[in-house]
Amino acid sequence: MSRIPLIAGNWKMNKTVAEAEQFIQALLPKLYATDGADVALCVPYLDLEAMVDSTRGSRVEVYAQNMHEAPNGAYTGEISAAMLTEIDVHGAVLGHSERRQYFGETDKALALKVPAALDAGLKVILCVGETEEERENGETERRLRHQVQEGLEKLDTDRLGEVVIAYEPVWAIGTGLTATPEQAQDALSFVRALVADRSKEQAARTRILYGGSMNAENAAELLALPDCDGGLIGGASLDPAKFVPIVEAAV
Ligand code: G3P
Repeated sequence: MSRIPLIAGNWKMNKTVAEAEQFIQALLPKLYATDGADVALCVPYLDLEAMVDSTRGSRVEVYAQNMHEAPNGAYTGEISAAMLTEIDVHGAVLGHSERRQYFGETDKALALKVPAALDAGLKVILCVGETEEERENGETERRLRHQVQEGLEKLDTDRLGEVVIAYEPVWAIGTGLTATPEQAQDALSFVRALVADRSKEQAARTRILYGGSMNAENAAELLALPDCDGGLIGGASLDPAKFVPIVEAAV
């Protein structure tokens, strides 16, 4: 089964609305010269509405960087799926390692967030990945198994393929230390095998991205891996001149 590549930029806590507008005005003309890959921008909450409006009619989809699993309630500072869909946001990145590391995100919460997002009509990128210590201790597969199985636990089997999974080794995020193609392929194929444990058909549908210091120089090699269906890009997504070559490499 052929899977359409997805290149998603994760701006993290960067770009005011004015800076986001400048970015998208510079990016869109450059994207018209490329085709093939789906493109998404995962932007701060306050940039969402402007980005949705500025990208309307283009191939760029706009994602939030988190979402609460409850429909509403006493959750100070949180955002619900309905608040995102009301302004035509396309999707949400869930379980990013920085949410796990700094804000206590748990696999149990993610098990509720994933179906809640899909049920609200949002696309989902679920982030998984091991720490340097887990890799050094030979615990990579144990960690990935727990994150994938728990994150997808409450999702009907016939919907598994709707979830994009981003494998992001924590030790490669923001470090310039990219996983080798062998390390990446091993992890990407293991993630796909975990989905296949529930449904081979859904595993074949599932798009699995690599994230962790992907850039214009290494993108083509990583994107050529059998189980790599795209990238989740941090630093290199902040500059159109660095982001577009990665989109172009995903053909
Ligand atoms: O979500 C993508 C991000 O974690 C990767 O960051 O800067 O290593 O591309 P970076």
